[in-house]
This record gives sequence, C-alpha cells and structure tokens, in this order.
Amino acid sequence: MKLSIELASSSKQEWLEAVMADFPAFLQDHANCERKASAMAMSFVAKYPDRIEIIPELINTAVEELEHFKDVYAIMEGRNIKLPQEIGHDIYVKELVDRCRSGREERFLDRLLLASIIECRGAERFKMIYETLEDGELKDFYHRLWTSEAKHGNIFVKMALNYFDTNIVYKRLGELNKMEAEVLESLPLKPALH
Ligand SMILES: [Fe+2]
Ligand SMILES: [Fe+2]
Repeated sequence: MKLSIELASSSKQEWLEAVMADFPAFLQDHANCERKASAMAMSFVAKYPDRIEIIPELINTAVEELEHFKDVYAIMEGRNIKLPQEIGHDIYVKELVDRCRSGREERFLDRLLLASIIECRGAERFKMIYETLEDGELKDFYHRLWTSEAKHGNIFVKMALNYFDTNIVYKRLGELNKMEAEVLESLPLKPALH
C-alpha cells in the first residue's frame, strides 16, 4: 500500500534564500511550529477519544514533536536566541483548516490528511535546509528532522486508512494537496517554515 504522499508543488529557491538570510528568525518560527505540531496531535486525542486505533500513535507523535521543540530550543539557547515575544497567526495553517469540510466524518478525514500534507511540506523544506547548510551541528539536526517529519507524513495517511476507503482517502488527498500548493503560492516569502 502506498503511504507516502507527493506534494503538488516544490518550494522555491527564493524561500530558501529568505531563510538562510535570517536563520535566527527561522529558528524562532521553527520552534513554534514544533510546539504547535505537538499540540495538534494531542488535539486529535481530545477531539476523537473514541478512535482508539490511532490514539497511541497520536500520543507518540505529540511526544516526538515536543522533543523536536526541545531540540530547537536547545539550539536557540546555544546561540542566545530567545523565543519570540509575540506569536503571529500561522496563516498557512489557518487557510488550510478553513478549507476543511465541516461534517464530523469529513472533517476528521480532512484534518488527518492535512496533517500529513503539513508534515510532508515540513520534511521537504527541512531537506532543502539540510542540503544547503555547511557541515556541523545544524546540518546534522536538519537531516534528522527531515527524516522524522517524512515519517509523520505517512503516519496520518495510515491513520485515515483505518476509517476510510483507500479510494476516498487518495482522492481527497489529491484535492487537499492542490489546495495546499495554491495556499503556499499565495503567501509572502519570509524566514519561516511557511
Ligand atoms: Fe517535528
Ligand atoms: Fe512532524
């Protein structure tokens, strides 16, 4: 069974340039993204306590994301970079969540698939950063994160397949992938994950 997903677009070189031009700002945003990813996995547990097949994996994912947060924060501490005072809205995630359908089952499927897509976009972008960085602690770190987020990308699709027909899952995944590419294209480039 095919679990990996293909994004509908590739991130631009200009995005990578914006990140490399202000890496401290990128680290601040990245830390927040990891913290939010952990909270997002736990929000599935809170919203769908009856979906017992996926709860252990959701908890594991939340713990892994929190470990990522811990690791990014340690890197920031070593460089004297503080967490941002204000946390801006993540327009990327908001725009995508706004496009999720509202019925209980439809929303459950859309949110799982969206989680997969967001993880895959993170993996794609961490890979770009890893390939650009000079040898050292940061390069090793982003290599590790790339592989971890790519794994998360598959986990959420696998969760969806517990509850929905394969054709329904992949058809909707294709639609949401297209939407994600459109949303990403509409956002300004900045030293942030999205
Ligand atoms: Fe993560
Ligand atoms: Fe992740």
